[in-house]
Amino acid sequence: MRIFIDSADTEAIKRCWDTGLIDGCTTNPTLISKSGRDPRSVYDELAEMGVPDISMEVMGNAVEMQNEAMKLYTEYKEVATIKLPMCQDGLKVCKELSNLGIRTNVTLIFNAAQAILAAKAGANYVSPFVGRIDDQGYAGTEVVRSIVGLYQQQRVSTEVLAASIRTTQRLVRAFYSGATVVTIPPGVFWNSYQHVLTDVGLSIFEKDANG
Ligand code: E4P
Repeated sequence: MRIFIDSADTEAIKRCWDTGLIDGCTTNPTLISKSGRDPRSVYDELAEMGVPDISMEVMGNAVEMQNEAMKLYTEYKEVATIKLPMCQDGLKVCKELSNLGIRTNVTLIFNAAQAILAAKAGANYVSPFVGRIDDQGYAGTEVVRSIVGLYQQQRVSTEVLAASIRTTQRLVRAFYSGATVVTIPPGVFWNSYQHVLTDVGLSIFEKDANG
C-alpha cells in the first residue's frame, strides 16, 4: 500500500515527505505548468529530497517521447518513472522502454480495455483517472476494481496506480478496490489525518493528562 503525492509544488511535497509516509510522486504537464518551473528543476529537487519514484511525463510523437525518456533515465536513473500517454505512440515507446528495463507509467486510463493494452506494452503502472471518471457520472473506483480483477485473473504484474483523487473517500475506495498505489494531492493527504472526534478525544486526553 503506497501513497504518492500528485503535485509539482516541491514545498508542499516536502511537507508531506517529511512525515515519512510518502513513497513517491507523480507529475504531469499541467502540474508542472502550474508550478511555473522547468520540469527538471522540479525533478532535481524531488530526487535530492530522496523521493525514490518520480513519474515524469513525456509528450510528442514516438521519437520525441523516446528521446526525452532516454535523457530522463540517463539523468535520474532508478528514481525516474517515465509517464506515457495512453495512445498508439505512447504504448509503442512503453514497450521499448520496458524491454530496456526502464520503469513506466501509462497515464490517461479510463477503462479496462486500455489497461489491457498498457499491460501488453509492459507498463509497470497504469493510472486510471478516478476523479475524471466520477465526473462522467460513473464510479472511477469501479474501473480500478475491474482492472485489478482482470490483472489478477490474468496474472499480470502491472500495478494499478489510482490517480485523479480528490477526496479522502476516493483514496480509501481506491485502495479498497485493489490499487497498490494511490497518488493524491497534498490537501487530500493532510485531510486524511483529520476526524472531528480525534480532535475532541485529544483535547479530553490533554486535559486529563494535565490533571
Ligand atoms: C496523475 O497521474 C494525474 O496526472 C492526475 O492525478 C490527474 O488529476 P486531475 O484529474 O485532478 O487533473
